[in-house]
Amino acid sequence: MDEQDLRLTVNGAGYAVRCDPATPLLDVLRHDLGLAGPRFGCGQGLCGACFVLIDGRARSSCDLPAGAAQGHAVTTVEGLAGRDGAPHPVQRAFLDEQAAQCGYCTSGMIISAVALLAADPSPGEEQVRAALEQNLCRCGAHQRIIAAVLAAARRMACGDPPGRDGRARQDRQAAP
Ligand code: FES
Ligand code: FES
Repeated sequence: MDEQDLRLTVNGAGYAVRCDPATPLLDVLRHDLGLAGPRFGCGQGLCGACFVLIDGRARSSCDLPAGAAQGHAVTTVEGLAGRDGAPHPVQRAFLDEQAAQCGYCTSGMIISAVALLAADPSPGEEQVRAALEQNLCRCGAHQRIIAAVLAAARRMACGDPPGRDGRARQDRQAAP
């Protein structure tokens, strides 16, 4: 174990974490920062349960060394709400469409959907399916999940603000 002091930017806040830089980012998020949104599923970058935004792009955190996240903006599902605390339109659409059963895959699905809608505000069903193909749902809620993402795109097209979408806020620096 080669512990170092890492500086991470997560959900717009700066954190100092002492750990082995090879520690998976997911472990640091969950165990050091108390962010339980990203989940452990496969641990090999294959299921999407642990997805977070890194500089606005969705990727797995279970196979990303925490040291490699330094200098990048990390956003978990907890950081998607707007400055007023209102849920992100994708989060609201998941609730409205009841797009979950057990919910284990939900935060990763939402993260992938947010990344998609930031890049393509009006995707078709095919684009949504492609964007979510790395996210597995063992409950078979895919149809409602896709409906939720399409509903979120419609909401956002009508001017519903998207929240932070993974961009780090610079106005809040906090220690854990
Ligand atoms: S737990 Fe990270 S992709 Fe499955
Ligand atoms: S809702 Fe259970 S894994 Fe997707």
